[in-house]
Formats: sequence, C-alpha cells, structure tokens
Amino acid sequence: MSVERCRVGLSGRAYEIVVGAGLLANAGSEIAKLRNPKRVFIVSDENVARLHLATLSQSLDKAAISHVETVLPPGEASKSFSMLETLVTRMLDANVERSDLIIAFGGGVIGDLTGFAAGIVKRGLDYVQIPTTLLAQVDSSVGGKTAIDTPHGKNLVGLFHQPVLVLSDTATLETLPARELRSGFAEVLKYGLISDAKFAGWLTANSQTILSLAGPQRTQAILTSCRMKAAVVEADEREGGHRALLNLGHTFAHAIETFAGYTGRVLHGEAVAVGCGLAFELSELLRYCPAGTSAQVRAMFAKAGLPAHLSELPDSGAGPADYIRLMLQDKKAKDRKLTFILARGIGEAFVAHGVDPQPVHQLLAAAARN
Ligand code: NAD
Ligand code: GLY
Repeated sequence: MSVERCRVGLSGRAYEIVVGAGLLANAGSEIAKLRNPKRVFIVSDENVARLHLATLSQSLDKAAISHVETVLPPGEASKSFSMLETLVTRMLDANVERSDLIIAFGGGVIGDLTGFAAGIVKRGLDYVQIPTTLLAQVDSSVGGKTAIDTPHGKNLVGLFHQPVLVLSDTATLETLPARELRSGFAEVLKYGLISDAKFAGWLTANSQTILSLAGPQRTQAILTSCRMKAAVVEADEREGGHRALLNLGHTFAHAIETFAGYTGRVLHGEAVAVGCGLAFELSELLRYCPAGTSAQVRAMFAKAGLPAHLSELPDSGAGPADYIRLMLQDKKAKDRKLTFILARGIGEAFVAHGVDPQPVHQLLAAAARN
C-alpha cells in the first residue's frame, strides 16, 4: 500500500498526516509507531461504525492495543452541549486515563466533538483523528479546532487542541454518499479560491473525476489541501490573523447553518459554497475585485453539483437583518463590527475587519430574490 505523509510542524505539538487507500487496516501499527498506548477509546457515529469499525478494531487487535468504543448518533445535531455531556460521561465511565489515547473516527462532527471532549477531560487527553469524509480529510481533522454548536451560532464553544496523528484512509470515501462527497469538495475548492488560482482551475477541470473516482486526482486534491492547511496552521495556529483566511465564505455559511437549525437540511460544504459566492459578490460590490468574478466562482461550485446561490437552499425565513445580527456573533467579529474574508480575485483572499453592514444588507436582500 502506498501512503503519503505530510507534517504539521508545530513546535512541541508537531504531528503527521498520513494519507493512503486501505490505511485503516494498518491504523494499529501506525499508532504503535507513535507510542504504545495501554488502551484506546474510539468515538464514532452509527454510520461509520456500521461500515468501518470492524476494520479499525481488527487492526488494533493485530497491534495488541486494547480498545473500547462508543457510538453516537450521526449528524450535525450531535455537536451539542447534551452530546458533549454524553460523551464526557462515557469517557469517565470507562475511566479513561492520560496514558490512554482517544480516536475520533468519523467525519467533521465526530472530529470536532471528540477533539473538544479530549481537550477537557482530565485537563486534556491525546487524540488521533481518523477522518472518513472528504471534508474531514481535507480540513476538519487538521489544525486542532474543536467545537460544538449553540443556538447563538456554529462552533461558538470549543478550544484549540491539536491531534497527535491524522490517518486518512481514502478508501473509506468509497462508502460516502455522493452529496457528502460534494460537500467536502466545497472545502477543497475553498483552498484554491483563497490563495491558489491554479489549484482552483485544476480542481474545476477535474471536479467530475475527483467526485466520481477514487483515483490519483482525488488523492492529489486531498494532499494539496492538507499541505496548504498545514502551512497556514504552522504560521498562525490560534488564528491571530492569517488563519482566518481559511474561513472564506464561512461568515455567511455559519449563519446559513444556524438558521437551518443544524438539521442536515443544509450540509456544511453546501453552506460554504453559497457563502463563497456571497463573499466574492460582496468583494465586487465593495470594488475589491472585478465584476464577473463571483459568477466565475459560482460556476465552479455549480460544475461540482453544489448550490451556488442562497435561493437554491431551503428557505429558513431569515432576513438580512437576522443574518447581520447573527454574523456579529461570529468569532472573527471585532469591536462589534462585521469581519469577512474578501478577495481581490480568485486566489487573492484577505481579511476585512469593520465591513459596513449596509452593502451586506443589500446583497442579502437581493440574494433572497434571485
Ligand atoms: P459529518 O461528520 O456529519 O459526516 C457526514 C455524514 O457522513 C454523516 O451522516 C456520517 O455518519 C457519514 N459518514 C461519515 N463517513 C462516512 C463514510 N466513510 N461512509 C459513509 N458515511 C459516512 O459531516 P462532515 O461534513 O464530515 O463535517 C462537517 C462538520 O465539520 C461541521 O460541523 C463543520 O463545522 C465541521 N468542520 C470543522 C472544521 C475544523 O477545522 N474543525 C473544518 C471544517 C468543518
Ligand atoms: N476550517 C478553518 C480552520 O481550521 O481554521
């Protein structure tokens, strides 16, 4: 089996991202290379457990690593205070110790929730990310952001807690529903839109292949995304500045998801696709980027089968003023003013603080009509 490795070079908290097809069957030996845990505590969701937990368990057995599992309901609704309590209680019931290792085995929901629980139980336990969605393999498993959602907004309660290892088995994506695969593709395209127009062009040219085939293009897209994310995280681990660029489209997206009620009606990547279109449109309106750029960006998402306009999503009933109120709760908001990631063109994103709410209101009012 061929695997690729890249490193997140954080001083004192460096770790490897290992990517390969069939890697899950070797997870035990990859973990044993890192350390010899007395026991691992695996957290997964019902879908992932049904499809892939046996492979992970067997690989741990082979490496003589004892393990216990807990399986949670799937979906965004699990990133909640009540599920955090459930998970923490199960970890304490199992008497997890600091010498144990926690494994987050699933998509971004399991990764964010488990990383958070690992960060607070017994003042911090080491954890491994084994991401099983495209979104988690290219984004959420890397960089140590963990969180739950609240009615005040998405990801508002959480902490930075880096994993000690990321194992991405690209073969697990074979069982991922097509809609979830497309949702992950939105986060891949986001990297190109932020800082690499050539990558964005390549992704668009290859989007059908990446979405339909577990071939070299998909692996290339995953590795390039991981390397780009690792470089950003190394430069700005706790989002003092530069890392906020990774939130292109997310100020809008998080509001869209909050209004959708974390029900799965709108997936994270779908909200990000629409959010990126809005961020480029706002950049045009504020004359940062040439007219027509947002249409180009929307065509890229549409070609991958993703929604590109707010009007393509189920109507949440929220109006522009509701959006603005919620976006002022965003973690990037500063001095009670709006912050957005805007762009001077494709691949030229920048952080804009103190954005005037009036054009944002205008944009959202028009978006609801289109
Ligand atoms: P998810 O975890 O809900 O997974 C999507 C669905 O796919 C679920 O139903 C899950 O059970 C199923 N699934 C997972 N792997 C599967 C597989 N291999 N085969 C079949 N089904 C499978 O969603 P997601 O898109 O992975 O993650 C979204 C979350 O990630 C959001 O909460 C978002 O906020 C978060 N996120 C976090 C970061 C970060 O840096 N921490 C970055 C991006 C997104
Ligand atoms: N997904 C955004 C970040 O990790 O910063």
